[in-house]
Amino acid sequence: MAVTIKSEKQIALMRESCRRLAQVHDALGRELKAGMSTLDIDRLGEEMIRSFGCVPNFKNYNGYPASICVSINEEIVHGIPSAKRIIQEGDIVSLDAGMIYKGYHSDAARTWAVGEVSRQAQRLIDVTRESFFEGIRFAKEGNHLHQISAAIQDYVEKNGFSVVRDLTGHGIGTHLHEDPVIPNYRTWGRGIRLAAGMTLAIEPMVSAGSCQITCLDDDWTCVTSDGALSAHYENTILITETGCEILTMGET
Ligand code: MF3
Ligand code: CO
Repeated sequence: MAVTIKSEKQIALMRESCRRLAQVHDALGRELKAGMSTLDIDRLGEEMIRSFGCVPNFKNYNGYPASICVSINEEIVHGIPSAKRIIQEGDIVSLDAGMIYKGYHSDAARTWAVGEVSRQAQRLIDVTRESFFEGIRFAKEGNHLHQISAAIQDYVEKNGFSVVRDLTGHGIGTHLHEDPVIPNYRTWGRGIRLAAGMTLAIEPMVSAGSCQITCLDDDWTCVTSDGALSAHYENTILITETGCEILTMGET
């Protein structure tokens, strides 16, 4: 599938889908507490998405059974919510959520510290978020996609962490996953030339140890192979002539 340029009308719908998703993340960040199950988070998120008249786009995506991916500590992404999994003080919890508004998808992720976490864990969360902002300094019409990728990698590695390579960001619009694939590291090419009207999900996934990943027996949860902590930060952005607009930005 070719990379699509969204029309003004489509961009307005993307903005609205993303604005609502930002509110969901802000609310989940406020609600998240030790003692809750990961299923509690999923229920809260799904209810809120539906109360906005939207549909959770992760649910049933390739058989994924929930609306919100909840990934704790060494879990990188795609953790499956469960009533048995209780969030503990000191955990770092990645929440990944997305939804559809009038046919247009949004996608964003945040990693939260629950109570007091180690200094290294907090630094991992901060560096992962900051790497997104380093990357999007290059998100602008006329630049090449992999300038974003390289900037994310450089920032993460300069801070002593590693970038997960087996999972990537992606284009987004009438589908959750559209072209292009967006690596968070350098590859052989420069990537596509960016143009105003492209909507992209930029999502660094960072490990405090090895970037090797393992998939658990539930066929979804991705963990670091060495058990190191991992964080995830993602926004849906719009490329413009002068830079980019972060469509899923709320309070965090
Ligand atoms: N944010 C994730 C992504 O960009 C979506 C989760 S995949 C799902 O790939 F299957 F859980 F929906
Ligand atoms: Co995504």
